[in-house]
Amino acid sequence: MKRHLRADQRELLLRTALEARDRAYAPYSRYAVGAALLSVNGALYSGCNIENAAYPVTICAERVAVFKAVSEGQREHLAIAVVTEDGGSPCGSCRQVLAEFGLDTIVILADGQGNVRLETDVRELLPNAFTPANLQKKG
Ligand code: THU
Repeated sequence: MKRHLRADQRELLLRTALEARDRAYAPYSRYAVGAALLSVNGALYSGCNIENAAYPVTICAERVAVFKAVSEGQREHLAIAVVTEDGGSPCGSCRQVLAEFGLDTIVILADGQGNVRLETDVRELLPNAFTPANLQKKG
């Protein structure tokens, strides 16, 4: 079911993601990403990308935020905001991780000034997703 985000929640998410972006560890790509995730019960989790000299070990900001939430017991996500210089969109791996916890999660993409470039949801970002429902046993 479509979820609704209040203006104050959107502001909080954007502010938190912008602040998280300042903590990005991205010495190789120099592409800093900040994320903020709001769970349905109001808990807030931030994330930034964390790169590694062994490049593939790098983790994206979105997954840091999701993993922080889930590891704290929060699996129902109302919305996630992602801030990059150019309003870039989550990578495929992050879309899949977001989809695991609900296709209705709202996704807000903003640029480095906090201007919203796109507001959508996981269902739209990952059409025909492979989800836990695919693994449910029949009968
Ligand atoms: N990055 C993210 O944090 N999120 C995405 O969805 C796209 C890519 C990071 C990974 C890497 O540190 C840098 O951006 C360049 O790919």
